Amino acid sequence: MWRGSSRLQAGATHNAGSGLRKGLTNYGDNDFSLFLRKAFIKGAGYTDDALDRPVIGIANTGSAYNPCHGNMEPLIEAVKRGILLAGGLPMPFPTISIHESFAHPTSMYLRNLMSMDTEEMLRAAPMDAVVLIGGCDKTVPAQLMGAASAGIPAIQLVTGSMLTGAYRGTRVGACTDCRRYWGMYRAETLDDEEISDVNNQLVASVGTCAVMGTASTMACLAEALGISLPGSATPPAVTADRMRIAEATGAQAVRLAREGLTIDRILTPEAFENAMRVLLAIGGSTNGIVHLAAMAGRLGMNVDLKALDRLGRDTPVLLDLKPSGQHYMEDFHRAGGMATLLRELKPLLNLDALTVTGRTLGEEIERSGPGFEQDVVRTRDNPIYPQGGIAVLEGNLAPGGAIIKQASADQALMEHEGRAVVFENLEDMAARIDDESLDVNADDVLVLKNIGPKGAPGMPEAGYIPIPKKLAVRGVKDMVRISDGRMSGTAFGTIILHVTPEAAIGGPLAYVRNGDRIRLSVGERSISLLVSDEELEARRQSQELPSCSAERGYAKLFMDTVTQADKGVDFDFLRSVEQKGQVPR
Ligand code: FES
Repeated sequence: MWRGSSRLQAGATHNAGSGLRKGLTNYGDNDFSLFLRKAFIKGAGYTDDALDRPVIGIANTGSAYNPCHGNMEPLIEAVKRGILLAGGLPMPFPTISIHESFAHPTSMYLRNLMSMDTEEMLRAAPMDAVVLIGGCDKTVPAQLMGAASAGIPAIQLVTGSMLTGAYRGTRVGACTDCRRYWGMYRAETLDDEEISDVNNQLVASVGTCAVMGTASTMACLAEALGISLPGSATPPAVTADRMRIAEATGAQAVRLAREGLTIDRILTPEAFENAMRVLLAIGGSTNGIVHLAAMAGRLGMNVDLKALDRLGRDTPVLLDLKPSGQHYMEDFHRAGGMATLLRELKPLLNLDALTVTGRTLGEEIERSGPGFEQDVVRTRDNPIYPQGGIAVLEGNLAPGGAIIKQASADQALMEHEGRAVVFENLEDMAARIDDESLDVNADDVLVLKNIGPKGAPGMPEAGYIPIPKKLAVRGVKDMVRISDGRMSGTAFGTIILHVTPEAAIGGPLAYVRNGDRIRLSVGERSISLLVSDEELEARRQSQELPSCSAERGYAKLFMDTVTQADKGVDFDFLRSVEQKGQVPR
């Protein structure tokens, strides 16, 4: 229950109260702390009446460097309107913002920093609930990781997807089409002027990527987790629907505060299982697994990759969206958004999972009505792909697991044996991949080492190894590619990612050499280096690993504490000390 009070004297023991009395600055006299806090905030013109309301923080991640959050100001206005209408006091505050293309060395390197910023601001500033506004890939997981650790009532609002553009009559949207057109440019079927024209059309408005990349994936997962409002994942950034969702999110945050519905009651094992089903059924970004593992780790749960793979065996891809299908996010919204998908997935979901509305996911699916005819979400008997979008691989090359986005791979390469063509790191690849003298054929396996959590560092999305130019110009569009890095959710191809342990800490990937044979069997879920244990051990004894350390600052914190992909690439000290078991169960 809400326990705010307009009394100036809060009493000596109210350090853990509600509203402005929460988390008082420590001067050794709580009444004085509250007196001082009120004096300062009244300097901004607030009345006692306003300050007596439930305080709702609004995490503002607007930044000139983040066009995916380019609608932040109107969103905040709409959230504030909702909070005020519901009787709360809105308090926007800034945190770090991360955009994929404006984050050096890579956005993943900064995700944990953003999660720490979010967590500590939620602890430091008095708020009874928080609206987390994120959108671009790493921002939503960072916010949910931070909020999960802070443990207060929280609700996610995403900025929404960008609109699609058109190039010479063909509809385009970032960033699957970015890669497709860049591939054509590399293959010399587009000239400089044409690729420049494409560049103007790929991002037609503010908002997150138009396809099922990581941002869209996380938006859908947030709704599946029950941590954002029903219907909130898909409205595009610049639409009236998006603003209405923002207003409703603000109002719901006040109810969360009044009811004290904390985030741990929403982000339960049941909710994570629902999110995993959705990840598999939407052909979601492989990054979704890493982020779910990090979020679960904050709540004491470990992701069991083998169990996740078992879920994938009976969870077909239903969403016909790029890169696995043909549509864009705005089409998904017109097709009814997540309600349409969840209705179709209903037999596979935990319908009793609680959502931020205070109702269960099952109740929300019922409330969404009967659905209508559309061509974006398929039925389970007519899927885009018969199994989940992501398969988990194991073998002597990846003892801790690896993944492949099978729904967007070349089916002819799913069972494949080839000769390894090895690049030691990103620099080596950049220097040689387009070299005419590179000894490479279309049926070889491209191997890129040292782009894992510590290796690069920050596990960049460089796993989408380009097809060597001399093969690209001959029309080769896909090859088996293996790395310990990640790939953008907007990318596609027969690409094995997240090889664990990574090469930089001595995983078997470190010891692959040019000419070794590698066998991939997605059917058997295996990735094997056809080299004897004895030979691998001999290589391990004779080969030095690159140094993975930093002398100071955030880089040192990162290098000293970052975990592997199976633990979400979170910092070890940020994971919950309490262990609650595995998900999926
Ligand atoms: Fe921000 Fe794609 S770059 S969502």
